[in-house]
Amino acid sequence: MTSSAAADNGATGGTQISSGFDIDAVRADFPILSRTVHGKPLVYLDNAATAQKPRAVIDAINEYYREYNSNIHRGVHHLSEKATSLYEGARKRAARFINAADSCEIVFLRGTTEAVNLVCSSVGQSIKAGDEIIISHMEHHSNIVPWQMLCNRTGAVLRVIPINDDAEMDVADFEALLGPKTRFVSLVHVSNSLGTINPVKQVIDLAHAQGVPVLIDGAQALPHMQVDVQALDCDFYTCSGHKTFGPMGIGFLYGKKQWLEELPPYHGGGDMIKYVSFDKTEYNDPPFKFEAGTPNVSGVIGLAAAMDYMEKIGHDNIQAHEHDLLVYATEQLSAIKGLRIIGTARNKASVVSFVLDDVHSHDIGTFVDHEGVAIRVGHHCTQPVMQRFGVPATSRASFAFYNTKQEVDTLAQALHKVIDIFGA
Ligand code: ALA
Repeated sequence: MTSSAAADNGATGGTQISSGFDIDAVRADFPILSRTVHGKPLVYLDNAATAQKPRAVIDAINEYYREYNSNIHRGVHHLSEKATSLYEGARKRAARFINAADSCEIVFLRGTTEAVNLVCSSVGQSIKAGDEIIISHMEHHSNIVPWQMLCNRTGAVLRVIPINDDAEMDVADFEALLGPKTRFVSLVHVSNSLGTINPVKQVIDLAHAQGVPVLIDGAQALPHMQVDVQALDCDFYTCSGHKTFGPMGIGFLYGKKQWLEELPPYHGGGDMIKYVSFDKTEYNDPPFKFEAGTPNVSGVIGLAAAMDYMEKIGHDNIQAHEHDLLVYATEQLSAIKGLRIIGTARNKASVVSFVLDDVHSHDIGTFVDHEGVAIRVGHHCTQPVMQRFGVPATSRASFAFYNTKQEVDTLAQALHKVIDIFGA
């Protein structure tokens, strides 16, 4: 990614690998990377599905259950106070990670799917028949289906920004859809199946000029780039912790304070209230208003450890290393006869989706697995993307900062064997 493109997309930081970036030391922080699969060293290239966890994350979760396991916000005893302080400390950590103005703008929940459903449900209470919601053609199902459900319920209309053959959206197409009936825009920052980095800052500015709020799905952006929600000026931003080197089942929604104060709650229950009687309930202040019930305390603590770890590695190092991997993987895979890359945007994260002439993606995935290489095959929860490119499925290699060029070579060699066997 170029630095001007980076700024336009809310990513900050340069692209120089510092002398402190030691790939062997980084890999040693991830216990799973030293295991074998089918007798071969594991080559884990399925990071867009879920990223591996550094020891710091595993240890933080372990320590919580060993030393502090207790419920939060509910006890005056030592363990509860310690767990509450770790949990609320993690909220401040998450706010710093994305440069939110206030930690009360961070709502912990299961991940991006729940975050989109929360916003859709709460914003949806004021959506009426004929109102319009804009998304793009490259959304994950989690940023399509909730809006479709809302439209079916209310009579609102879903408008879709098209994408070109390189899997890029044109901001002019977005502008053409934006109109007096537009009530909300929900856009993916980085496409999980194509790698495209969208011009989210331009979209946000155009939407705001019409008074329209914007949610950015950051599930695939936060593992790769530094995001500054104040610079972006987005209204909502989502994080899936497990893709960001944290535990499964935890993530957060960033929402501007004014929105979190204004919107009705999503779930009802304990902790989201100030006062309950049979006549009425007074809701708690945000973010607690949106965190009903006992939360995933260990997940939040593990996620804070993951954010600490990423910042220790350094966003500049992560971006520079992954950019090198993307360039190298694109060269190596493009050179394979019969292989076509799906998703050739100029501004891309380290994701390479491809099809191989006449070979079913499940055969590719199964074969390379026997060489120790983990990739994802299928529609990647983006069936409209598959329809756009006229393919039933793709094979996808998605890279993290702990991957190496040697691992790209292992994938390329495995694909050559696929061709020898399946005769593409
Ligand atoms: N959304 C995840 C992926 O892209 C699961 O693989």
